[in-house]
Amino acid sequence: MDLPKSVNIVEVGPRDGLQNEAHFVLTEHKIELIERLSETGLKRIEMTSFVHPKAIPQLQDSEEVVKRTHRKPGIIYSTLVPNEKGLERALASGVEEIAFFVSASETHNQKNVKMSVSESLRGFRNITEKALSNGIRIRGYVVTAFGCPYEGRVSPERVEFIVDEYKTLGVHEIALGDTTGMANPVQVSRMVERIKPRLDSMGFALHFHDTRGTALANVLAALQQGVTVFDGSIGGLGGCPYAPGASGNIATEDLVNMLEEMGIETGVNLEELIQCAQYAREIIKKDLPGHLIRAGRICWEGV
Ligand code: COA
Ligand code: ZN
Repeated sequence: MDLPKSVNIVEVGPRDGLQNEAHFVLTEHKIELIERLSETGLKRIEMTSFVHPKAIPQLQDSEEVVKRTHRKPGIIYSTLVPNEKGLERALASGVEEIAFFVSASETHNQKNVKMSVSESLRGFRNITEKALSNGIRIRGYVVTAFGCPYEGRVSPERVEFIVDEYKTLGVHEIALGDTTGMANPVQVSRMVERIKPRLDSMGFALHFHDTRGTALANVLAALQQGVTVFDGSIGGLGGCPYAPGASGNIATEDLVNMLEEMGIETGVNLEELIQCAQYAREIIKKDLPGHLIRAGRICWEGV
């Protein structure tokens, strides 16, 4: 099998994970989680969101989280930004990277950010220059890229259209999100084949949710097409409050385990990652769907 030698993982648990928790996780616990994740070898962490606090009350402490977290040199910390107000808050807090997000389906975008897709994109056009001139790099999410809980099938042309728009804006990386875990490996393979030639110098990341148990299989399909950046959420925390039925992202430790066992380097310490997942479980006070939390890492020396 022709597979990449190494893969970069983007940890999105503190944002995508915690945004969907029914209970507010204490600010100091969020900070502790991000600081522990920073010690595992991860190089990119999505910390929080500068969205409306009423839309996502779980992340209403985003300023404090960004300002008070001890950020480790060499790690890129990012936050979600939906509009100009979000960018202003991100600039005032000081982050290295922001992430724009727009859905491939109109209905999901409307429910998520109360805008049409073209309104979202117009808004990004107006603020990109400001972000870039402040030295902030931009990730561009295409949400519901593989299927929408309201509209069902999403045409790949919609995804291509948004990717092209992001390219014009100057984003550094595209991230295709399977927000409600509707993707299958054949679909992923075809989508990657279509999108890759349009990317030029932009990076390419895939963001899988494991709602229907297909996330790791989807990662394998993407690896076979040469994709080398994947999002994960510690313990499998996560979902999207504006996407019914959404469940957690692929668990970061499950992803790292599979990749390392396949001989693909991640630079992440699996033992420490499992400890982070246990800490995440402690602070949200409920069980998490990740497999390695229960099974532990493989011990080849035997017992
Ligand atoms: N942060 C904080 N406040 C914001 C804001 C932001 N990013 N964007 C707008 N606001 C404030 C405005 O200042 C305004 O305040 P005012 O009434 O005191 O003047 C008010 O919100 C209404 O502004 P408006 O632009 O009309 O926002 P909206 O109500 O249409 O909401 C979003 C639009 C995008 C801000 C909101 O839907 C949102 O934050 N969605 C995020 C959803 C999400 O994170 N989903 C999960 C990720 S996939
Ligand atoms: Zn997600």
